[in-house]
Amino acid sequence: MKLQAFDKTPLIGSEIKTDIDTLLSGAESEAIRELLEQRGVIYFRGLDINDNQQVAFAKTIGNTVETEGENGIYKVSLDQGINARAKYLQGSLFWHVDGSLQPYPNYAALLRALKLSDSGGDTEFCNTYAAYDALPEQEKREIENLRVVHSAERSQYYVTPEMSYDEVCFWQKSPTKSCPLVWTHASGRKSLLVGATADYVEGYTVEKSRALLAKMRDWCTQPEFVYRHKWKLGDLLIWSNTGTMHRALPYSSSSGRLLHRTILAGEEPLN
Ligand code: OGA
Ligand code: MN
Repeated sequence: MKLQAFDKTPLIGSEIKTDIDTLLSGAESEAIRELLEQRGVIYFRGLDINDNQQVAFAKTIGNTVETEGENGIYKVSLDQGINARAKYLQGSLFWHVDGSLQPYPNYAALLRALKLSDSGGDTEFCNTYAAYDALPEQEKREIENLRVVHSAERSQYYVTPEMSYDEVCFWQKSPTKSCPLVWTHASGRKSLLVGATADYVEGYTVEKSRALLAKMRDWCTQPEFVYRHKWKLGDLLIWSNTGTMHRALPYSSSSGRLLHRTILAGEEPLN
């Protein structure tokens, strides 16, 4: 069986129908990479594979699997008993790009649903290529050379708005990173890069910077650029981390919600 892709919205998100053997064979890995690039998010409904199959499939997509978690599987949970970094993971409730502070942000990530929350816990993604393309030409020119400083500290204010001095000092130990607002990729396509780590626009006043970053996030997250995934058990979803932002919709830390994540290492430098 080959792949069949069904677009879920005009600009982002496709469901793929195929069987496990086809995926694990790697025969369709080029088609999957192409779909990821074009559609930002692809998913397999109720594929119901196991951890080893998830990692094996990730490897067929042609990148290095990051060694986070155990054997390439990281438990995404807000329950401290399941994930010691649960507090930090609360940042996932706000629009972000994974690894925006790294020299090579992740290429893509896979999430598989093992346990769902009774309420909340959908995941939203927005297509930041499509958002850039849709900007008025005048605005594209205004922002084309802007640079934004990203910091771990900034993203922590979403989780802990009133951080103590010690907390601020702790997060300030993480190095900040200057990134282009408009990311020009190896393919020549351009995407917008904002999200929870976006701290300030270089050379702008505080007010002007805050306003532009909010405007850009609002722009990227307009309904036409967003795909919302309503999880079903066994779903396997992959997102292109260089061409989208994502966030989890609120859910209770005691809901038991558990996703298994596998990360594909970045291929494109962000500088
Ligand atoms: C992530 C993430 C969103 C979710 O794993 O990087 O942001 O819905 N997850 O749990
Ligand atoms: Mn994330």
